[in-house]
Amino acid sequence: MDLCPDWFNDVGNSLAYSKLAELESCNKESGGSTEIRIENTLMNKIIISRTVPAKFTTTNSMKRAIVIGATSGMGRGLARLLANENYNVGITGRRTNLLDELKRENPDRFVSLTFDMTDISAISTYMNELTKALGGLDLLIICSGTGDINEKLDFWIEKKTIDVNVTGFTALCDWAFHYFEQQQHGQLVAITSIAGLIGSRHAPAYNATKSYQIKYLEGLQQKAKKAKLPLSISDIRPGFVDTAMAKGDGLFWVASIDKAVQQLYRAIKRKRKITYITKRWSIVALLFRLLSH
Ligand SMILES: NC(=O)c1ccc[n+]([C@@H]2O[C@H](COP(=O)([O-])OP(=O)(O)OC[C@H]3O[C@@H](n4cnc5c(N)ncnc54)[C@H](OP(=O)(O)O)[C@@H]3O)[C@@H](O)[C@H]2O)c1
Repeated sequence: MDLCPDWFNDVGNSLAYSKLAELESCNKESGGSTEIRIENTLMNKIIISRTVPAKFTTTNSMKRAIVIGATSGMGRGLARLLANENYNVGITGRRTNLLDELKRENPDRFVSLTFDMTDISAISTYMNELTKALGGLDLLIICSGTGDINEKLDFWIEKKTIDVNVTGFTALCDWAFHYFEQQQHGQLVAITSIAGLIGSRHAPAYNATKSYQIKYLEGLQQKAKKAKLPLSISDIRPGFVDTAMAKGDGLFWVASIDKAVQQLYRAIKRKRKITYITKRWSIVALLFRLLSH
């Protein structure tokens, strides 16, 4: 089916996404997946180019999870672990090649969708699509995040961090809350950071946005409790973990990805509200709390 240029104007994204359902039914199935390319002809750039995942065949005993930010670091490790633990796993991120690489490791377990979580007008479409492909959803884990040392206080560095860690994060949390509320069960897990407990002159937006995430999750926990919803909402706060995100000098107690992922998985199984990774960071958290008083 040809794409109609009229769909793309300055409100191109929303118009294009409203046409997505139409496109999906019109595009030809190819080996269980449908290739969809939408181009923004005005700005002469591609808005989205992706493969709509094929639907999974699931058995009742299989759980379904989505890992946001599964292209690297803790998200990638966790996605692998969940697949080995008999989950069907939806994996996301912006780097399609890394998602494809992961999918090749265990094609029966993974279904992938490339998207940028700051593309908030389309978050529901992406999430509904991935959930549909998985045949439902029991667990959503938000592992994505960004942040940079910003000694010069460059606003655009701060904005990028806010877009991902606040705006995209909130859109994903809200989608999950509504979805789980409707089905009356589900688990939302987000990786925040010990950094959210204290300000930082080196990376002001990173620490501030992590603080926002911590408080936002607290708000959702209260909301679920008040409405007597059987939802589990967990806040995982790592110290330093050996990934690209561990930036700056003087890092200490740096955990391996493997160790962090094992502890992350244990916390998910126990449905704990707050977990520090590794455990010794809970002492630092206590110190921060004492200092702030
Ligand atoms: N490593 C640490 O020391 C440490 C400590 C405390 C907390 N954390 C938190 O742990 C979480 C995981 O980070 P990590 O350490 O595993 O680092 P990482 O390897 O850099 O992983 C970050 C993930 O976020 C995804 N992401 C970033 N921007 C995105 C966007 N706009 N849209 C969609 N996905 C996006 C990346 O995927 P793409 O680039 O493919 O989009 C990647 O998969 C982050 O929230 C981080 O703040 C890390």
